[in-house]
Parts: sequence; C-alpha cells; structure tokens
Amino acid sequence: MFRSKIAVTALALAALAAINLTPVAAVEAEGPANKKLDWSFEGIFGTYDRGSLQRGYRVYKEVCASCHSMNLLSYRNLSQPGGPEFTLEQVKALAAEFDVQDGPNDEGEMFERAGLPSDRFVSPFPNEEAARASNGGALPPDLSLIVKARKDGPNYLYSLLTGYEENPPAGVELGEGMNYNPYFTGHQIAMAPPLSEEAVEYTDGTKPSVENLSKDVVMFLAWAAEPKLEERKSLGFKVLIYLIILAGLMYAANKKLWSRIKH
Ligand code: HEC
Repeated sequence: MFRSKIAVTALALAALAAINLTPVAAVEAEGPANKKLDWSFEGIFGTYDRGSLQRGYRVYKEVCASCHSMNLLSYRNLSQPGGPEFTLEQVKALAAEFDVQDGPNDEGEMFERAGLPSDRFVSPFPNEEAARASNGGALPPDLSLIVKARKDGPNYLYSLLTGYEENPPAGVELGEGMNYNPYFTGHQIAMAPPLSEEAVEYTDGTKPSVENLSKDVVMFLAWAAEPKLEERKSLGFKVLIYLIILAGLMYAANKKLWSRIKH
C-alpha cells in the first residue's frame, strides 16, 4: 500500500516535471542561449550601480525615447532612493527639457509648458496608430516593465541589443524593413539596431561602446521595472538576521526550561 503510494507520487512528479520542461526546451532550441552578465543587482545583497543607472537614463532619453514610451515613470522617480538618485535640481533640469501638454486653462484652451518633476515621462507618439505609422506597422512596446515581461529579462535585453547580425545566414529571407537578430523570437525584428559606438556622449570617462551603452540602458530598465529592489533586499536581510537571533533565543530558552527535568 505504502509502496504504491510512493510510486504514484513519483509518477505524478515526473509528469509535472515533463509538463514544465517541454516548452522551455522548445523555446531554447529556437535561438542561441542569452549572453549572461554579472548584474550588480542580483544576489541577496544586490544593488543597482548608480553611475550605470544615470548613464542608462541618458541612453534611454537620447536613443530609445524617440520610439518607446515609459508611461509608468515620472521624472521625480529619478531622484528617489534606490534609483539613479539624481539630485532634485538635476531632475528639475531634466524634466524642463521636455514640452508637456497641459490645460485647459481659464480660457478653456490646452497649452504647452516646460516639464516638471511631477510629470509622467513624455511619450514619443500620441497613440498606437501614430507609433505604428512611424515604424512600418510595428509597435514599439512601452519599456516601463519590459524587463519583467521577458524571460531572463536583463540578459535577454542585453543579448537583443548587442546581438544584431548584419547578414542573415544563408537561406533566410528578411521581410521588408526587417533586421536579423537571432535572440528575437522568429529572428526578424522591425527595430533597426538602435545603438552604435558613441551613440551617446558619456561624461564620466566610461567608454561608450555598444556593450556599455546596452548594459547601462538595461540596468536603467531593470530599475524601472523594480524600483523597490534595494529596499526589498535590505528588509529581507534584516528579517533573516532577526529570525536567526530569534531561533538562538528559542533554543536557549527551550534548553533552560527542560534542564530541570532529569532523564
Ligand atoms: C526607431 C525606433 C526605435 C528605437 C530608437 C528603439 N526601438 Fe526598440 N523597438 C522598436 C520597434 C518598432 C519594436 C517592435 C519590433 C517588432 O515587433 O518587430 C521594438 C521593440 C523593442 C523591444 C521588444 C523586444 C521583444 O522581445 O519584444 C525592446 C526590449 C526594445 N525595443 C528596446 C529598445 C531599447 C532599449 C532602445 C534604445 C537603446 C530601443 N528599443 C530603441 C523601435 C525602436
């Protein structure tokens, strides 16, 4: 009786494992495995690299923002703890670089004004139709949560940005306006390689290679998708210490309590 139960459980587990593994294996067979980077925000003590976040914002603003919105971010988020931590003065200046539609005013008219820290990131297009019209029919997705929306997000994005190949392998016909990228599902992507060497001028001495530009913008997008990561990890660590101390006290109390009873 007991044995057959074990056998049934083992079978069920094997079936579950099979269900779980098949689709993953199928996806991976499609393209090369993602390039793996040592991201500073991984692991239990992980934090974002402040300099990289600040450079990454500039890459987003100067390159990606001409096609991709980031609707969930406000400029003031750029000064919050755990993020790029620009000073409030810097954020005011960064926001003021944009024109924002506001209104209606007392005369009932819409008007333009300089951006404020409280404004949401300005979108490049007024709506989806306009975005598609400018991109040969393809829609550049909003990047606020893209790192969470893709499996192995940071490594995938890094691989995608650095993985374009100028010439598709023999036998592959590219569609009109498409680019070859083995990391993208189907290997044909409507986004042309967005980054090139020195696409953004870095002022802190970091070399603006395609690899560094990609790494920085992915770090920035990872923060955007999980702005509370540092807070979460430091709280998790404190809870862990608390539990270890509590376990020690419980053990000591338990020992003392039972010490009077002779075996
Ligand atoms: C000229 C416009 C343009 C620029 C600039 C641009 N993109 Fe894109 N991007 C697109 C379009 C269009 C798509 C949709 C591609 C498709 O569906 O084939 C896309 C798709 C993406 C995707 C989704 C890939 C997926 O797995 O679905 C990511 C991530 C992305 N872009 C990141 C970036 C980053 C980061 C930058 C800046 C370094 C950037 N893009 C710059 C137009 C652009």
